[in-house]
Amino acid sequence: MQKATRQTNRWSNRLAYILAATGAAVGLGNIWKFPYITGQNGGGAFVLVYLVCILFIGIPVMMAEVALGKHGRHTPGRSVLEVAKSSGKSHWWSLVGWMGVVSGYLILSFYVVITGWALAYIYKAGAGDFGTGDPKQVQALFADLTNDGWALLGWTSTVVLATVLVIGKGVKAGLERAVSALMPLLFLLLLGLAIYAASEGDFWAAFHFMFAPDFSKLSINGVVVALGHSFFTLSLASGIMIMYGAYLPEGVSIAKSSVWIAFFDTLVALIAGMVIYPVVFANHLEPGAGPGLIFQTLPIAFGQMPGGRLVGVLFFIMLVFAAFTSALALIESSVAWLVEKRGFGRWQAAFAAGFGIWLLSLGTIASVSNMPIAIFHTPWGEVHFFAILDYLTANIALPIGGLLIAIFTGWVANKALMADMIDAPWVFRLWHPVIKYLAPLAILLVFLQLTGVIHL
Ligand code: PFF
Repeated sequence: MQKATRQTNRWSNRLAYILAATGAAVGLGNIWKFPYITGQNGGGAFVLVYLVCILFIGIPVMMAEVALGKHGRHTPGRSVLEVAKSSGKSHWWSLVGWMGVVSGYLILSFYVVITGWALAYIYKAGAGDFGTGDPKQVQALFADLTNDGWALLGWTSTVVLATVLVIGKGVKAGLERAVSALMPLLFLLLLGLAIYAASEGDFWAAFHFMFAPDFSKLSINGVVVALGHSFFTLSLASGIMIMYGAYLPEGVSIAKSSVWIAFFDTLVALIAGMVIYPVVFANHLEPGAGPGLIFQTLPIAFGQMPGGRLVGVLFFIMLVFAAFTSALALIESSVAWLVEKRGFGRWQAAFAAGFGIWLLSLGTIASVSNMPIAIFHTPWGEVHFFAILDYLTANIALPIGGLLIAIFTGWVANKALMADMIDAPWVFRLWHPVIKYLAPLAILLVFLQLTGVIHL
């Protein structure tokens, strides 16, 4: 076995890092998930709680992860090990980093399938398949796609291959270059779509829905969903931010850059809401439609609105850009590990990691297209492979991973070492009690609520 070599890759500069990390953060979570969970949880009050979670828990945990990566300068498992060693603690703590890498890898295996749906929808929107926006036709379109295992395999394989081809080129020539080109385009598309939605849709109904909090509509479960989503959307506990921290150039402030990344991520989610809701309300559609909101509800509106065909194409291009830069982030730590520890060449590692993702994605494809091999009969009824994976990662692995990161950086790691990473002393004095007490308590609450151990 080869000895792990220290990462020598670095982002070119502060801006490149912020763009890459924003690319990792902005993804399906912002454009697909945030609008539908906001719709399901009643709007404004949910958005407010989500913002509080980002500010008080998401940003501090992000800072903790980047600091671990920056000190360790290795892939996540080894970076956490380095910090544990420097702090005189057990090597078992490296599992905290490992857990993230494994969660990220599993998440990617279904993330590529949903990105494949978005890719298929670019084509469908362009081909005029939304027709005149007849709800039955649009719903059949989605069912036809998800039931067609071969079509899903084709779209998913395209996404996996594209991911491999970019990541194989390396951190600077592949990842950084792709993200630097795609992120500005994504912002432009998003702004263009927001202007369209404001002029053609019902801007004020959407604005009121998203920004006028009505706490009677928010359940305690909504609070839990908001905290869980703040992890998902900021790419926490998935190995990503530790890995990106390992590539951080010297002299970049971890606190300031984390605030910027969280700010851009939140801005994209809020603007995505202001693209989707004006269109939904103007067409008297249901904001609480659930995961099908952008695949089954929005296309009804695109079919009915002026210029809807072009706007539909642009919308799904934007979604693919957002998802793709996150897919790159989700595979990076596995690829870097194969290079660092196993001595693979970068291309060889990219293809090996990509092949594994492709194999795993077959489980999700088989379960959404209702193939019996991916549907299990249990005492609790039928369980789909995709549903199990989604539940285990988003609801169990991410909260536990976040909790362990908070415990490790707040209680276990050497305080002086962490203080050295977290910039200015006053920032550290603010950060430390949050990561030591507030974050673990809040995460524990969410985790217990989600797993049904407690009912608030
Ligand atoms: N943050 C991205 C999103 O919101 O889609 C991608 C992502 C990364 C999701 C890590 C989940 C995760 F654990």
